Amino acid sequence: VLATSAPLIRSVLDRWSGWRDRLLASPAFRRHAAAFPLTRPVARRRARALFDLCAGFVYSQILLACVRLRVFEALAEGPQALPRLARRLGLAEDAAERLLKAAASLRLVRADRQGRYGLGPLGAALVGNPGLVAMIEHHVMLYEDLRDPVALLRGEATGSLNRYWAYAGLAQPGEAAAHAVDPYTSLMAASQPLVAAEILDAYPIDRHRHLLDIGGGDGSFITAAAERAPHLRLTLFDLPETAARARTRLSDAGLSGRTDAIGGDFFRDPLPQGADIVSLVRVIHDHDDGPALNLLRAVRAALPPGGTLLLAEPMAGVPGIETVGDAYFGFYLLAMGQGRARKPSELLRMLREAGFRRAQVRPTAMPLVTGLITATA
Ligand SMILES: C[S@@+](CC[C@H](N)C(=O)[O-])C[C@H]1O[C@@H](n2cnc3c(N)ncnc32)[C@H](O)[C@@H]1O
Repeated sequence: VLATSAPLIRSVLDRWSGWRDRLLASPAFRRHAAAFPLTRPVARRRARALFDLCAGFVYSQILLACVRLRVFEALAEGPQALPRLARRLGLAEDAAERLLKAAASLRLVRADRQGRYGLGPLGAALVGNPGLVAMIEHHVMLYEDLRDPVALLRGEATGSLNRYWAYAGLAQPGEAAAHAVDPYTSLMAASQPLVAAEILDAYPIDRHRHLLDIGGGDGSFITAAAERAPHLRLTLFDLPETAARARTRLSDAGLSGRTDAIGGDFFRDPLPQGADIVSLVRVIHDHDDGPALNLLRAVRAALPPGGTLLLAEPMAGVPGIETVGDAYFGFYLLAMGQGRARKPSELLRMLREAGFRRAQVRPTAMPLVTGLITATA
């Protein structure tokens, strides 16, 4: 009965949503909804949401100005009066006031009754968060690339992000020079502590013997894993220049005795053997479906039967943060030139296709920072 009535239900729903869309598109209805007390709150909420969509780039630039002028560092010392703050920021008083009022409306700063400015709840969260601050500065490039989003969608524009992520633009990523990998490796390293904490809180790494981190950047994740599990042997695999940088960092951290950093191209070179757990942290979403599946197959082949894969990255379609995967990463990766954020269900399907068993989503405290999936080889 359900199967035969499905087209009928669909057509009723389509007609209903068509009617609703026509109603919402009518200026007379919108005026009426804003005037009528019962519909007014919804009408106002929608108008505000639409305004925020139109104005979002202005908010982002206000945030950038605050970061560049080190407003949050200044306010972290305590609330301050406008004249002193203006001098500290190197702005005329009226310009400083304009910026601080704008930032207060965005909850980045807060004005008290005495007219002094202090940290707002969102500004306070930026203090001591170098990963987020680095990302805000990095967005200057994304902002440029999104200037003509239609050209980007039509493939008529190559963005600066495509050159920034050296491996996205090269036919042979293994040949990326040190100066090409250094900026993005530093950017990733700045946000890695937050990501590592999420993963290691959600998955007990200490039950394993040997971790292989593929696309491990400068070694920030394996350093965090080493702290959680003092007996763990650790291997990092990344492009040769990035692996060389990781080797220095791991040796500076006193970890040379239990770590290896191996350089290579994970699409061409054999992956190191011997680990009982492999991590792919913020790696799969950088690649299109074909290469991503090949990499998952290579990882499965590198693991012994029963070995574990940890796949951690921001995912699409997660309730409450749909904009992160579909809007933000959708367009970030478009500007980068490859890859996409995938839904957990898509990743589970790819893992099964690559030969993994028991693929499952593990909840993380902050899915906005990273989602997590484990699977067994
Ligand atoms: C987005 S970064 C993530 C780095 C790190 N896992 C993290 O979360 O901070 C992707 C990493 O994959 C590495 N990578 C990209 N293509 C690669 C390839 N073909 N072979 C080996 N490593 C590659 C990059 O050099 C980079 O370190």
